[in-house]
Amino acid sequence: MKTRSPRLVIVSARAPFVRTGSGIVRAPGGLISALLPLMRRSRGTWIATGADREACDTSELPFRVRALALPSEIRSAWYAGASNGALWPLSHGFGEVCRFRAEQARAYFEVCRAAADAAAEYALPGGVVWVHDYQLALVPALLRARRPDLTIGFFWHIPWPASDSLRVLPWASELIEGVLGADLVGLHVPRYVRAFRDALDELGIAYVNDGESIVVPRGARHTRIEAWPIGVDVDGWASLGRDETVAAEAARITADLGGGRVLLSVDRMDYAKGIVERLEAFERLLEQNAEARERVTLVQIGVPSRETVPAYRELRQRIEATVGRIQGRFGGPRRKPVHLFARTFDSTELAAYYLAADAAIVTPKRDGMNLVAFEYVATRPRPNGRLLLSTTAGAADVLTEAHLVNPYDEEGLTSAIEDVALAPETASDIARMAALQARVSQLSVETWASGFLARLEQVTEERVPVRAQETRLAASARVTRAR
Ligand code: F6P
Repeated sequence: MKTRSPRLVIVSARAPFVRTGSGIVRAPGGLISALLPLMRRSRGTWIATGADREACDTSELPFRVRALALPSEIRSAWYAGASNGALWPLSHGFGEVCRFRAEQARAYFEVCRAAADAAAEYALPGGVVWVHDYQLALVPALLRARRPDLTIGFFWHIPWPASDSLRVLPWASELIEGVLGADLVGLHVPRYVRAFRDALDELGIAYVNDGESIVVPRGARHTRIEAWPIGVDVDGWASLGRDETVAAEAARITADLGGGRVLLSVDRMDYAKGIVERLEAFERLLEQNAEARERVTLVQIGVPSRETVPAYRELRQRIEATVGRIQGRFGGPRRKPVHLFARTFDSTELAAYYLAADAAIVTPKRDGMNLVAFEYVATRPRPNGRLLLSTTAGAADVLTEAHLVNPYDEEGLTSAIEDVALAPETASDIARMAALQARVSQLSVETWASGFLARLEQVTEERVPVRAQETRLAASARVTRAR
């Protein structure tokens, strides 16, 4: 789909480039790879609130990237505090991890204001700005107040919080009003759109249902909230999967691991990914099943993440201790049942592991989408291998042919791992993987990005006959408005 988007402005926490020992390189991730060609074409500006200025303020880049100059204590209170110590656990249903501190909320507001100022400065008259994720949810309304001429899109990349969870956020009403500054709000799956509707009900904000989307009247305009499931760089992963060097590396990995069955998990080390619970389920399998003790190896790639947040530092220690215990109980001089790699892998290295794995074990306790599930499927040249996927990941709503499991059901998780590891491959397995491959190819991240931008422009042009309806407003269901 062609979009006008001249001089598109993107606002996100991370920058599209990072400085490494060998110079400035593209940052990892499918979102970046989808947006880079769009940005090159539109010669726009990318505003990054959490980025390293040295990697950005240089003429070597193909378009303008602006890292905001923010005092380090503000940046830390915004990133480690309000974003990843409050909004992230809240949205993933980890209420007990949430900490709401007034100075962190102030920092969040300040960073969003700075991002809105920068976007207002760089956007062309009548231009398009696309704001990303929970770290910057107030930007749409702040930007609209500064530049009513702009078309503003917003994408929330994690689960939308359940209304019971949202009720405890001291600035829930500001959060929703911030998001509603956009013309189009994207969430991954219809389930999250329904959760957003619950939040509108809680706050007594009027809306109309329009099919699976929601329209919220906002004076002379309206905000549309819709499901836009993201995907991966399907061609890129498929071509790595066909690459002979990658295939040779995959064969070497399988041989190094003893030639048995290989299970693979790839996650940022985040408590929402359920890594400890998965390791414990695998440990139970080794306790119960002699064949698994002999033949099954779990490779856990754990990318260190957010280590300035205490919950993440503690998690890493728990993961390492659990792996150590399993090794101590079931390992031997020639047998290591779990391999933990605590580092980042590039896509070529990852593709070799995807090819080597007989099954991908994608069992987060909660996940907005989970692109590892997509990458595993996209990389495989043939419809073999199995995908074990949590029902609590957004991806489960899309990849319905996966082997689905409730990650909170301890015995259920152990027996699901046993099945995908040891059951002989059947025609049904092949049919399931073929169906998953067809689904994943329809959902490329490029289609997602260009489709969302095209829809954004369409939404600002449409005139929906919006009849505001009063929504249920239970007195007991009001969210505290105090900041
Ligand atoms: O998918 C959610 C998300 O927060 C993205 O916004 C982010 O790129 C990714 O997870 C990694 O998190 P962080 O930027 O905190 O390392």
